[in-house]
Amino acid sequence: MYITEDIKYIGVNDRQIDLFEGQYIVPEGMAYNSYIIIDEKTAVMDSVDANFTQEWLDKIAAELGGRKLDYLVVQHMEPDHSASIFDFTKAYPEAKIVASSKAFAMMKNFFGTDFAEKQVVVNEGSKLSLGRHELSFITAPMVHWPEVIMTYDSTDKILFSADAFGKFGALDAEEDWACEARRYYIGIVGKYGSQVQAVLRKAAKLDIETICPLHGPVLSENLGYYINLYDIWSSYRPEEEGIVIAYTSIYGNTKKAVMQLAEKLEEKGCKVVLNDLARCDWAEAVEDAFRYSKLVLATTTYNADIFPFMRQFIDHLTERSYQNRTVAFIENGTWAPVATKIMKGMFEKSKDLTFAENTVKIMSALNEESSAQLAALAEELAGGAAEQTEEAPKGESRRFECSVCGYIYEGEELPEDFVCPICQLGAEVFEEIE
Ligand code: FEO
Repeated sequence: MYITEDIKYIGVNDRQIDLFEGQYIVPEGMAYNSYIIIDEKTAVMDSVDANFTQEWLDKIAAELGGRKLDYLVVQHMEPDHSASIFDFTKAYPEAKIVASSKAFAMMKNFFGTDFAEKQVVVNEGSKLSLGRHELSFITAPMVHWPEVIMTYDSTDKILFSADAFGKFGALDAEEDWACEARRYYIGIVGKYGSQVQAVLRKAAKLDIETICPLHGPVLSENLGYYINLYDIWSSYRPEEEGIVIAYTSIYGNTKKAVMQLAEKLEEKGCKVVLNDLARCDWAEAVEDAFRYSKLVLATTTYNADIFPFMRQFIDHLTERSYQNRTVAFIENGTWAPVATKIMKGMFEKSKDLTFAENTVKIMSALNEESSAQLAALAEELAGGAAEQTEEAPKGESRRFECSVCGYIYEGEELPEDFVCPICQLGAEVFEEIE
């Protein structure tokens, strides 16, 4: 595949994979992207998954046509992109490896060597000239690993964006970009919104005509659409008004309540999305929770706790910094319902969540009282909830950004003894931002 006159796609499609990262179903497979730049010097951008090493090396050889290979740029060390590095060094022993110092430390762990004699260590702003192409490097720590760099080619105005702007799905899959890019982003990068925001601010200063990610298609048109979605996702703003109902039901009584609620909400003109957590793709349910503005959680008390699929679902939300949404609860229990109390408690450390005033308590099966509670909840979610979802007052809050990893501290003052929770550096590396 031709990207520009002297930049070619040399990645691979994986149609055999069952679970990406060992947990995400990928019905349309996965693409591991790699690119080669043929200039006075030659450079390959990243390697591929271990199952495709030889196919990738064959593509490199075909594009080189007998020329020497000068550089392998390693932007990310997760094995879907780094697993073929060692075999690459055997095939091209004279090539230098361009990466961050953290990436070389990881190579030592993965391969038993940090390729000391081949290292070209790059930091924020480092440059590498290939002749016509001038590459500069942008650190992108915790998007979504600490060693990540992105690469900007100022000659052809290309951003090699590492995992950012990637999606699930092989390149020959015919599917909507946003659907599988959103599921990928929320699942894999969702926890690191402030770090993504930091990179978007750096990218905003560049003149970008093409984005070459490590997964999914090369993006060269309507870039504002993709960047806007990344801005929404990484700032935890709902993308759409709508109510996701995530539920578990053992004998059908909780499901019956969920269906009644959905019907009432739809009658009031609300967009409703249902997810049976025991049967749906959990990553799709998590994606929906982040996509829409309101979430209803309905489950049973089970072993003096909540039903396991619901516990796992809420864990998936909180570990990805779920915030800035309205959450409502429906519980079912035959003798001692505690599900609402437990679910609420699981969000204790979440910020900017509004809990609906109305909750629904079902004692085994819907009755007149719980049906009335359902109706009140529907009323609140369809109308009144809008007034309750105002953002928490910001007061005199200021924002301080870690210049190393992009972590953002919000508060009136940055404490002198503050330590960045991501990179463990002190207050001196923080700068105030707008
Ligand atoms: Fe595509 Fe984080 O590896």
